[in-house]
Amino acid sequence: GVFILGQEQDTLGGRFDATQSFVGEMSDLQKEVTCYLLFSLATAVIGSLQFGYNTGVINAPEQKLRTFFNNTWMERYGKPIDPGVCTIVWSLAVAIFSVGGMVGSFSVGVLANKFGRRNSMFLVNILAVIGGGLMGFCTLFSSFEMVIAGRLVIGLFCGLFTGLTPMYVGEVSPTPLRGAFGTLHQLGVVVGILIAQVFGLEFLLGSDKLWPVLLALTVIPAVLQCFLLPFCPESPRYLLINLNKEEQARKALVRLRGCEDVSKDMQEMKEESVKMNMEKRVTIPELFRTAVYRQPLLIAVMLQLSQQLSGINAVFYYSTGIFESAGVTQPIYATIGAGIVNTVFTVVSLFLVERAGRRTLHLIGLGGMAVSALLMTITLLLDYLPSLNYVSIAAVFAFVAMFEMGPGPIPWFIVAELFSQGPRPAAMAVAGCSNWTANFLVGISFPKLKELCGPYVFIIFTVFLIFFFIFTFIRVPETKGRTFEEIAQVFSGAPPPSSTSPQEVDVVTVPSSTSKEKVPLV
Ligand code: GLC
Repeated sequence: GVFILGQEQDTLGGRFDATQSFVGEMSDLQKEVTCYLLFSLATAVIGSLQFGYNTGVINAPEQKLRTFFNNTWMERYGKPIDPGVCTIVWSLAVAIFSVGGMVGSFSVGVLANKFGRRNSMFLVNILAVIGGGLMGFCTLFSSFEMVIAGRLVIGLFCGLFTGLTPMYVGEVSPTPLRGAFGTLHQLGVVVGILIAQVFGLEFLLGSDKLWPVLLALTVIPAVLQCFLLPFCPESPRYLLINLNKEEQARKALVRLRGCEDVSKDMQEMKEESVKMNMEKRVTIPELFRTAVYRQPLLIAVMLQLSQQLSGINAVFYYSTGIFESAGVTQPIYATIGAGIVNTVFTVVSLFLVERAGRRTLHLIGLGGMAVSALLMTITLLLDYLPSLNYVSIAAVFAFVAMFEMGPGPIPWFIVAELFSQGPRPAAMAVAGCSNWTANFLVGISFPKLKELCGPYVFIIFTVFLIFFFIFTFIRVPETKGRTFEEIAQVFSGAPPPSSTSPQEVDVVTVPSSTSKEKVPLV
């Protein structure tokens, strides 16, 4: 069969109906959004905040950590640490976080199905206490290994939360608001980064004495979340679909929605349950083997790679150093400025994403980032001109703003949109792990690349950005306004995936306002 994607399906009448039902839905929604639901969402989003905090926290205390590595080296070996070795230890402390993230994101499905969503979040917080403790006591034991071990454990913790939070939020939210609440994850991440940057100020926790406290602070939200979680409900979907506990699921829904009649939600979940039993669970090897999943899987993985290989975390892990190289006198304030721009543009994207569409925003973001990266290169080359300091700050701000327009939030939620119920968990694991792997590669190699390429280092990301721009333009379909099922239908066609032979799906038409060319699927 030939499946057409990107045809204009909206007729005028269709749009009118949509507006009417939109107004109706809005008034229903006001009833469905209870304080209890908001409380449960806020509690879950503490996990996203933790991911952001630990992403941003390592940036400001770079010099303190390097001094600490040197001091411990002196204590042990009686000589200063070799600058090359120091850079390796420092890069390792930054990047091992992502190794933990890779393992964590990959194992989220097993944990969430065994213990449930809420209890998994509760248990995973133990890792924050261990990791935070290791980092907090590193100076006491004169051990830089404790910093590295702590970052690994914290990475594991964050990797698990990049799966657990979006899953819980998606499952407790009323259907029409699932997308809006879904973006709360990225918002939590960026606010976490900002908090880390502010606390990292020299006169707050970024001082010679207090930097271990800065790294250990992640324990506090973990403990707070453990106090709040018992007051949150377990996901009704988990209770009904995974555990078959209908009465408990109903009770949880009644509290979340604030009304006795939850039959609509219950009905929807039961249908999902039936569908899930019919659509067999897809394992990761099956995901790779089945031809119909190849196209969406390629798109999902490429979008995750575009997020990380854009070089965003070169900025968030090392921006203070970048600003210093460009001759900025108060680099830490420029870093905090980047965090504020980051937060503001995530909110902008939140309002635009349902209007402009995912594909358009992702293209604008990648294109804008490529231009900003070129500008950053020029300012690094001309760092002897003091008047260019502001341009260099503006270039980094534009880079970050463009990132949050699309490449920041979109890859996290589009994976769920590209797959139906059966293959979704496996696809999320593969996509999440690709994200964290690329995150690791950028984190570990950036300081060395900067040494090797000097001011030209951002050219590498420009090349990646152009490549992903072209890929997105040719291959990524628009998913805005389509239900999960409609999107999955486009890729898999009517017959169930298991019975579809590779020959049955041969081409897919890529949406584009200018061209409707056909691209081979296999
Ligand atoms: C996304 C990325 C993360 C990055 C952050 C910056 O959540 O996954 O790696 O640090 O955006 O806002």
